[in-house]
Amino acid sequence: MKIILLGAPGAGKGTVAKLLSEYDGSVQISTGDILRAAVKEGNELGKEAKAYMDRGDLVPDSLIMKIMEARLQESDCKRGFIMDGFPRTIPQAEALKELLERLSITLDMVVNLEVPREVILDRLTTRRTCSNPSCQEIYNIKSKPPTPEGTCKKCGSPVIQRDDETEEAILNRLETYNAMTAPLIGFYEKEGLLKSFKSLDSKATVEAIKQSLSA
Ligand code: AP5
Repeated sequence: MKIILLGAPGAGKGTVAKLLSEYDGSVQISTGDILRAAVKEGNELGKEAKAYMDRGDLVPDSLIMKIMEARLQESDCKRGFIMDGFPRTIPQAEALKELLERLSITLDMVVNLEVPREVILDRLTTRRTCSNPSCQEIYNIKSKPPTPEGTCKKCGSPVIQRDDETEEAILNRLETYNAMTAPLIGFYEKEGLLKSFKSLDSKATVEAIKQSLSA
């Protein structure tokens, strides 16, 4: 599959992307995961991105497009991809459209995950993430706890709260989403690619996406 996942912070994009990727081997491309791994590594990209991310602001479009142009041309993308957290602004969506045309790639669908705001706030304050940059499994102390010792069930690394999980940064991320990312719903509706899913149960959402793709 070749799809984009849209949705507010905490809507479950990462969770749904991981389940879809297990289903048919399409690769999950999370710009958030790529940036967090760069911050952990302390490379140039990470140094530039960290302050934006910690505040809950978006990283500049030019930086993101450079990452995505290279990423989409890696060989694992030939099996299919699930874009999680990209595009995030109208300029990113326009640049992606041009890039996909240049690479002769056609998107199957743009999935919009709809989740009420109170559910999102609860999920973001209770999320935990594996600290291993090559794993980054997502947990939740209520709905999907890590081990009782606070380690990842997949790789054994400690699970942590992200640096952008302070109340102030969470509220800023939600405002940024409404101002900068929500307009993409209209953009992809016009392109005839958008499908919205009410997403309270990730497994049910994944089944609905699979059905919709094969219809
Ligand atoms: P990013 O990592 O993309 O963060 P986000 O969009 O804010 O999304 P989240 O990862 O917070 O949430 P999610 O929707 O993936 O939900 P999850 O599955 O974890 O980006 C971080 C930062 O990087 C940005 O703020 C920005 O600075 C920068 N950035 C990234 N991409 C960029 C771009 N393209 N342009 C510019 N800047 C960019 O689920 C949340 C929690 O809920 C988890 O605990 C999970 O276990 C739980 N949960 C999920 N589904 C369910 C369910 N059905 N039932 C119960 N619990 C559930």
